[in-house]
Amino acid sequence: MKKFLSLVLAAVLTAGTAFAGEGMWLLNKLKQVNEAEMRALGFKLTAEDIYSLNKASIKDAVARLGGGFCSGEVVSADGLMLTNHHCGYDAIQSLSTVENDILTNGFWAMTRDQEKPAGFSVSFLQYITDVTDTVLSVLNDGMSEEEREAAIGQVGDALEKKADDGSGHIDANFKVMFAGNQFYLFVYKTYPDVRLVGTPPNAIGKFGGDTDNWQWPRHTGDFSMFRIYTGPDGEPAEYAPENIPFKPRWHFPVSLDGVKKGDFSMIMGFPGSTDRFLNSDGVKLALEVEQPSRVKIRGEKLDILKKHMDADNAVRLKYAAKDAQIANYWKYFIGQQKGLKRQHVYDRKKAQEADLMAWINADAARKQKYGNVLNDLAEGYAQRAKYEKASTYMQEAAFGSEAVMFGFRLYGLKRQMEKDPKDQAKLAALSDMVRHSAREFWKDYDPATDQELTASMFRMIHKDVDAAQQPDVIQTVVKKYKGDFDKWAATLFKTSILTDSTRLMAFLAKPSLKVLQKDMGMQAMESSLNLYRGVLGPAIGEAQTKIDRGYRLLEAAMMEKDPGKQWYPDANSTERLTYGIVNDYKPADAVHYDFLTTEEGILQKEDPTSDEFIVPARQKELLLAKDFGRYADASGHLPINFISENDITGGNSGSPVINGNGELIGIAFDGNWEAMSGDISYEPELQRTISVDIRYVLWVIDKFAGAKHLVDEMTLVKRPVPVPAPITLPETVPAKTGKKK
Ligand code: ARG
Repeated sequence: MKKFLSLVLAAVLTAGTAFAGEGMWLLNKLKQVNEAEMRALGFKLTAEDIYSLNKASIKDAVARLGGGFCSGEVVSADGLMLTNHHCGYDAIQSLSTVENDILTNGFWAMTRDQEKPAGFSVSFLQYITDVTDTVLSVLNDGMSEEEREAAIGQVGDALEKKADDGSGHIDANFKVMFAGNQFYLFVYKTYPDVRLVGTPPNAIGKFGGDTDNWQWPRHTGDFSMFRIYTGPDGEPAEYAPENIPFKPRWHFPVSLDGVKKGDFSMIMGFPGSTDRFLNSDGVKLALEVEQPSRVKIRGEKLDILKKHMDADNAVRLKYAAKDAQIANYWKYFIGQQKGLKRQHVYDRKKAQEADLMAWINADAARKQKYGNVLNDLAEGYAQRAKYEKASTYMQEAAFGSEAVMFGFRLYGLKRQMEKDPKDQAKLAALSDMVRHSAREFWKDYDPATDQELTASMFRMIHKDVDAAQQPDVIQTVVKKYKGDFDKWAATLFKTSILTDSTRLMAFLAKPSLKVLQKDMGMQAMESSLNLYRGVLGPAIGEAQTKIDRGYRLLEAAMMEKDPGKQWYPDANSTERLTYGIVNDYKPADAVHYDFLTTEEGILQKEDPTSDEFIVPARQKELLLAKDFGRYADASGHLPINFISENDITGGNSGSPVINGNGELIGIAFDGNWEAMSGDISYEPELQRTISVDIRYVLWVIDKFAGAKHLVDEMTLVKRPVPVPAPITLPETVPAKTGKKK
């Protein structure tokens, strides 16, 4: 064990990376950058087994959900896919009704014809190409930032086009990395027919609710199951009854062996975005303006939603997914602010910047190239700061009103009627689009809830935002309604075509520009949009150009200063791999958190008076009976969740957690409270990934849900337990007398 550790240490020191799981690595660079260290940590396969252009490899079983809202993994030769419950949440909620509430009760397809269309697609990576040289060849130092961006955009478009084979299933993504210092092309194949196979009840899938969200120790069965389908020819196809299960090139074997402290673990998936290079000015702006605004607005929204959801079961179902989404990042931003302060991230960034400046100033050529980088950033942020609050309030509050957001869907139609009311074909097409989005909108809409929300959101804008940066509609409320936002909203909701389906359908049957112009919902939307597009957007855009340029130079300078360090680009919804070990941590002085939770914790947390901690009767019975079969760990307990030193963020949810043999050991679903600043600054001692142990997933499917046929469809592996070497006691130890005390 000691020898193993020093080997790892040696690898770490020579590679010069901060180990402890940090890094979201590019799959096409694993061989050069990571393979040796991974093997030293316990990885038994090779980089080629993970990402290969010549043979089936692990990447072929890692799915991007939609455009990257989550990740998933294929676990059978017939296209069975696992992801998180919170990733399937939208689909599960959409498929639920008050009469057949699968969100609350769970659902398992006992036969394939019971599997239900999920409403999202999945994509698999085909290949990655480093196109940095191609892009750099069209750039030069004389270009302005705008010229530069335009040139990059052009090359990117051309590369994406070239990668498209015309089948309609290829999704080529040109991606800018390291703030414009490197460029990659990611090519995916997209499968639109995905069906829900099963989900545990909400009480298991979201056990612990918002109280436990972003927190360890955790006991959540955060998984759901889908199946990918193809056309009869095996190629991607839209949903059709004759479609057949997807035949992956490779699927994950599922390990029954579980995890021990120190075990190698790696995660592949689609992290959405990180800000690891954020400078001190950026940290300050986030801390002082953006995050408190988001937390405040979201807190208000959540209170209103809760009131209406608690009062009416139909409203609860309609708003379940929206509420979860708002709550998730409400708590995230609270934690991030705390983490940034507790970890002194601002001061640490300041110190790093001072170091960097000293290095820059020590050389004339460097000074010429990078000398202004921090000033540029400071200037850009100072400019952006003037508009940041208003802009955040427009996004979160004004467009947080669902009616206002829906009004935006009618904007195209309105513009067309103003520009060219004679073009009947175009008007009809735009009306059809509105009709289509209206159907989706109304399915999960409750006007009474949104009326209170809308009044409150605009009241907050009036109270909190600088008067010169408020949308005009606020003045209308002040003058015409004596500042009574409830009254204003009541009139709006009584009259607007946006808030009542009969009025909307009547309007669409005979669209009239006058109706749109007079509509109070449309007026609220347009005044917010005009402020954003006319004033805030351009001002922030100008500041952002400076900031973007600043980061391009900052990241280039940092990499030039430290060429021996292995650098990884910020997350940007491209496929990445992170590796490390299963490990516990110390969240605070004198406190130790173990790496694994068991069923005992579920029973300890049970609280029938809180809807977040209900344990379904059947689950409780099975847990108390300790009927865990082959899913128990060595101590006879049922493992629930575990933590590991892996570097993930939003978008990684649902990612496979993989052992050294390439087998599935868990599904990643969260980060931990003490390291919520992690997206900005990785904290090696504290940062952990929280995953649901695959043995709990299998137990729920098999024993709780009685859907063993799905477990049987997977490839389970159990490796022989290594025989421990016999222990021989040194001669000097006296033999036990067996005397009882
Ligand atoms: N924090 C998790 C993530 O962002 C989502 C967890 C969902 N659970 C919940 N109680 N809201 O990936």
